[in-house]
Amino acid sequence: MLYFLVEPSTLRIVRGKGPTNQETPGATAYILIVDDDPIIREAIRMCVEHFGYRVREADSGEEALALLTDEVPDLILLDVRMPGINGITLCAHLKADTKTRFIPIVLLTTEGDLDARVAGLEAGADDYFTKPVHPRELAARLRSLLRLKRVTEALEHAENLIGSLALTIEARDTYTAGHCVRLATYAVQLGERLRLSTEELEALQLGGFLHDLGKIAVPDQVLMKPGPLSRDQWRIMREHAIVGDRLAGHIRTLTLVRPIIRHHHERMDGRGYPDKLAGEEIPILARIMAIVDVYDALRTRRAYKPPLEEREAIRLLREASATGHLDAALVRLFIDLRSKTFTATQ
Ligand SMILES: [Fe+2]
Repeated sequence: MLYFLVEPSTLRIVRGKGPTNQETPGATAYILIVDDDPIIREAIRMCVEHFGYRVREADSGEEALALLTDEVPDLILLDVRMPGINGITLCAHLKADTKTRFIPIVLLTTEGDLDARVAGLEAGADDYFTKPVHPRELAARLRSLLRLKRVTEALEHAENLIGSLALTIEARDTYTAGHCVRLATYAVQLGERLRLSTEELEALQLGGFLHDLGKIAVPDQVLMKPGPLSRDQWRIMREHAIVGDRLAGHIRTLTLVRPIIRHHHERMDGRGYPDKLAGEEIPILARIMAIVDVYDALRTRRAYKPPLEEREAIRLLREASATGHLDAALVRLFIDLRSKTFTATQ
């Protein structure tokens, strides 16, 4: 059986035992090869097809973009140095686009081209090959990257499923309609004001939807009870922070969201739940969520109260920071933010 050793300028065909389809699970995966050199493209194509994958070729970044609108590949092998849109620019573009960011991108670089490798990895590339590429190494890396992509997709589906569950919880309580969207919006606004990182802002956005995830385990007669809860019912209600944290713990992409889920009912004076954390022991994202959660509860109708006017809600928010419930510095920032938004909408 033939397999191929690919070199930058020439193609050498080496006799040997190539991999079989049994060795390449996911053999129907579609791989896009982008290289301006037709000899290299052809050599890699023959090699990759030999592993049982389906292949399309593009001779430029521009042609690759055109092919991407037609069909999304499972993996892209991308030459770094090409006329027009080069590999680094194309990689950065694809990794910034939510539709293509999970496609593994492997850069094809030449020996000693350290600058291109570093720039490529900084642009979000998942791996790089140094040409000439050995077929066995190519087969092994393609397998591992495609496996990683399947796991990432499974996690993303799990995340979407959990997001749907969170909205289901919100829908069980008619008094909190729109609560999750408003919380996400307020929390991100406050996070932006604090110049938090992109990852932290994303966690606040997700946290708005997922903070009460654990309420899925709270029975209807407790969650929807119009009157005051009994001692036992309160105990069940409080468990939602721990249950939600446990559920989110199975999903790697929710690492930054977990502290919000677990700690959004802690108090600055240490009298909150579930862990009785105090002051700055409480993660900042959870302190933010606690403020916007209280504010939204004050401003909306609940079974036990009508919606409060903005002025009254702000007064009670100040009171909650003075009595050791909420973070006073963050409350001041939030009130400042609200006063600007509120004045602008009047
Ligand atoms: Fe909660």
